[in-house]
Amino acid sequence: MNYAEFYKQSVDDPQTFWAKQAELIDWHQPYSQVLDYSNPPFAKWFVGGQTNLCHNAVDRWVAGQGDKPALIAISTETNTEKVYTFAELHTEVQRMAALMQSLGVGKGDRVLIYMPMIAEAAFAMLACARIGAIHSVVFGGFASNSLATRINDAKPKLIVSVDAGSRGGKRVAYKPLLDTAIDLAQHKPGHVLLVDRGLMPMQSVAGRDVDYAALRAQHMDAQVPITWLEANEASYILYTSGTTGKPKGVQRDVGGHAVALTASMKHIYCGNAGETYFSSSDIGWVVGHSYIVYGPLITGMATIMYEGLPFAPDAGIWWSIVEKYKVTRMFTAPTAVRVLKKYPTEFMHKYDLSSLKTLYLAGEPLDETTSQWISSELGVPVIDNYWQTETGWPILTVVKGVEDVPTKLGSPGIPVYGYKVKILNEATGEVCGANEKGVVVIEGPLPPGCMQTVYGDDQRFVKTYWSNFSSEQVYSTFDWGIRDADGYYFILGRTDDVINVAGHRLGTREIEESISSHANVAEVAAVGVEDKLKGQVAIAFVILKNNAGTETPEGRQAMEKEIMSVVDNRLGSLARPARVHFVTMLPKTRSGKLLRRSLQAICEGRDPGDLTTIEDPISLQQIKNVMAV
Ligand code: PRX
Repeated sequence: MNYAEFYKQSVDDPQTFWAKQAELIDWHQPYSQVLDYSNPPFAKWFVGGQTNLCHNAVDRWVAGQGDKPALIAISTETNTEKVYTFAELHTEVQRMAALMQSLGVGKGDRVLIYMPMIAEAAFAMLACARIGAIHSVVFGGFASNSLATRINDAKPKLIVSVDAGSRGGKRVAYKPLLDTAIDLAQHKPGHVLLVDRGLMPMQSVAGRDVDYAALRAQHMDAQVPITWLEANEASYILYTSGTTGKPKGVQRDVGGHAVALTASMKHIYCGNAGETYFSSSDIGWVVGHSYIVYGPLITGMATIMYEGLPFAPDAGIWWSIVEKYKVTRMFTAPTAVRVLKKYPTEFMHKYDLSSLKTLYLAGEPLDETTSQWISSELGVPVIDNYWQTETGWPILTVVKGVEDVPTKLGSPGIPVYGYKVKILNEATGEVCGANEKGVVVIEGPLPPGCMQTVYGDDQRFVKTYWSNFSSEQVYSTFDWGIRDADGYYFILGRTDDVINVAGHRLGTREIEESISSHANVAEVAAVGVEDKLKGQVAIAFVILKNNAGTETPEGRQAMEKEIMSVVDNRLGSLARPARVHFVTMLPKTRSGKLLRRSLQAICEGRDPGDLTTIEDPISLQQIKNVMAV
């Protein structure tokens, strides 16, 4: 079958198409209905079927390839490296599951995981899946306030964390930030399970904190049966940024999720059991969920969990891993490639990279220079894929496992099977013609594996994603795009206030809210501005209540530092604006709405567009002046 036919069947006859894909996983009980779309936009896939993600990712492989590598945990921060076979992973996950149960965690309970890239984090995710608990992994780069918001929303019974992480040889505290977050949050977890890595001393809270090593020792021979779940029960919540300051809990199911990931591993990533997959992302992001933990393991592949920088001890580290573990498929973000491009290519060429077949890049726009450079240096095809936390797997790419469809530089590709992608005119809602810019939308039902709802808030799911056009109910990706005459799509940035810093998705509203918490800040606007290395960086414009010495360069510098550290402490350093500028006015319409797009355009040296509604043009001149300094 060629790809056009494959795609056509997926959208014209999703029942037959997805029933076929569902054969790729193990079912404890068969489903009675492939799709129930009687209550749009809520799609239920594989209704009545019972399965389990942990069974498919771990248990299923123990009999045939129990002695083969499953999880390869490498840390260049602690100089440790450990390979867990499928059988060993099975044992560790059962120990973790048993100790979670001993702490009262059961089906439907939420477990928040705030951990760096260590094996125990994967054990915790898989243990939750095993016993039907719902995990919510929070990226380790987030600080106390971000964490507290998520604790309040997910209301976890248990939090799993560590003493510290490490980045570039520097210890990064986790436990003190977690303690502050729990103090700040209204919801209090029953227990905090701590993996003591011996990196930083920890203050234990009596009655609440428990030690992983001590509890694990009590469950060495644990055998924890699989809790079979109906396909539409929740497997996890992953918070992601949007237009408001309150992150949304993207909720994913069990059955559709398992089928979609397994199918993507076959058709898109062309992975086979027994091979090794290396994704450099982090378990705190969706790529880490889909393509570090679940996707590769569900396919019987070994997966690499890497803690460390891409250029330490030197810029050859990733390539040494590819050689040593014979990685066949690798996944990273364009920013990482741009970082590596700064180093001599000998770091790459001194390793035998003949095992590597394809490099996948996602998470942010892939520029042609980066794509061509890495492809020619590695001598393998580079495949761009476009997707979101909400979808969990690619929306646009070239599906090489079905047909060798050519790639086009600058484009992630064409719609992936299951996704009815369209580009709509923002104002009229009409379908755009070739090369006409509009909003990228998906017609319902979303295919299996996509978000089911916003955790605990069905209304928000409908209102945020499905109510942006009066003409029809479609899912908005909040990305601008165009489709060329050959049917290839090009992504042109977000339509909302989300920015993408080095592949990390951040909400400018969250950054603004944290800056506003500074006692001397009257008003603030944060925008994403193009950056050669990171894709985008945040720039903040602040109106102070009193000048506080900012008339002098030294005074401005001191205040800028103060504001940056407020963001570090509340959200985490990854949300820290690259620059904070002080102004006395922000560009607004006469009705008081911030002219974000104009502000962003000026920062990027572009034309600010239609300014007929602006209240006071001097505000724009101020922005131009501070940017020119
Ligand atoms: O704006 C798009 C951009 O990243 C957003 C989703 O980010 P996140 O939820 O963190 O999921 C990342 C999953 C890989 C999108 O709305 N984006 C993602 N991939 C691409 C991209 N922009 C351009 N090209 C891509 N390949």
